[in-house]
Amino acid sequence: MKRVGIIGVGEYLPKRVLTNADLEKMVDTSDEWITTRTGIKERRLAAKSEATSDLAIKAAKDALADAKLKPQDLDLIIVATITPDMPFPAVACLLQNALGAKDAICFDISAACAGFVYAITVAQQFIARGSARNALVVGAETLSAITDWQDRNTCVLFGDGAGAVVLAEAKSGGILSTYLGCNGSKADLLMVPGGGSRNPASAHTLGKRLHHIKMKGNEVFKLAVTIMAEAAQNVLKKAGLECKDIDLVIPHQANVRIIMAMAKKLNLAPEKIYLNIERRGNMSSASTATALCEAVRAGRIKRGDIILLDAFGAGLVWGACVIKWG
Ligand code: ACO
Repeated sequence: MKRVGIIGVGEYLPKRVLTNADLEKMVDTSDEWITTRTGIKERRLAAKSEATSDLAIKAAKDALADAKLKPQDLDLIIVATITPDMPFPAVACLLQNALGAKDAICFDISAACAGFVYAITVAQQFIARGSARNALVVGAETLSAITDWQDRNTCVLFGDGAGAVVLAEAKSGGILSTYLGCNGSKADLLMVPGGGSRNPASAHTLGKRLHHIKMKGNEVFKLAVTIMAEAAQNVLKKAGLECKDIDLVIPHQANVRIIMAMAKKLNLAPEKIYLNIERRGNMSSASTATALCEAVRAGRIKRGDIILLDAFGAGLVWGACVIKWG
């Protein structure tokens, strides 16, 4: 089995900024409520002309340039998304065409906010077993397209963006362990009920606003803290490490209170947690992806550092990954 590492990172954030002050004009909310309850100050929104593949392409090109690879070098593309351009074909196929990565096999993964960690884990298996040499993994979301802009409970939380990594056999460091999980009995806590085969699009589903995110936020909150802490402990155990060995945690950015409660459970100092939620909101699979890219570019991750990715989301699903930065 080959050791697999990340050899390039990239990201793309749409230009438009939506601040809490903007949201105050749209729903009955306040900057004070959003900031204290979530830690979010602003988020990016895709332009009307931008779909998820448009964001993914820009992040992918950025990551390929960072890895010093050509699209033709890719033999696997996985896009983690819950907001594909359309039900099919997969965003990964659109990306393959746009990049000209004609030798890559392509598919999407639907694991909500844990999607990026799920996709890294799948790509790792391909490379470790010699079924692929170079893999592109993208977390890309246009959550603004499924956000109910009339629902203050959810619309203040989400943003759009894309992050990408290129994976290959590691010359040094690499992925030390991964850990994935799911509890499908909690599927009702977080969903978009309309638009699939259960409730195909109709005047009824539109009238009931079933094409938007529905969330029991409070229940998700409590489970998220426990899930993220347990995922961290399990993935570290698999790697033969302890919390004190971690140099930086890249958590899913759903709510700063969830992240800090998880850190407290693990006895992790706040300076060991990378946050971008204040500027980005929750971008589902793109949150961990962009946060990793930002942390690398900000010099927060150095060669030899032990990095923990830790995410949870609708499903409920969760995933964690320990990487020794090479
Ligand atoms: N502005 C002002 N008041 C609000 C707003 C708002 N934007 N939203 C809700 N409120 C009100 C509620 O109506 C409620 O009022 P009431 O007491 O009069 O009924 C009060 O604020 C408290 O509401 P809670 O839901 O209890 O607030 P809470 O502290 O739980 O925060 C939040 C809500 C931010 C949604 C939190 O529960 C959370 O972050 N949950 C987890 C979200 C998450 O992690 N999602 C998973 C990832 S997303 C994915 O997978 C796609």
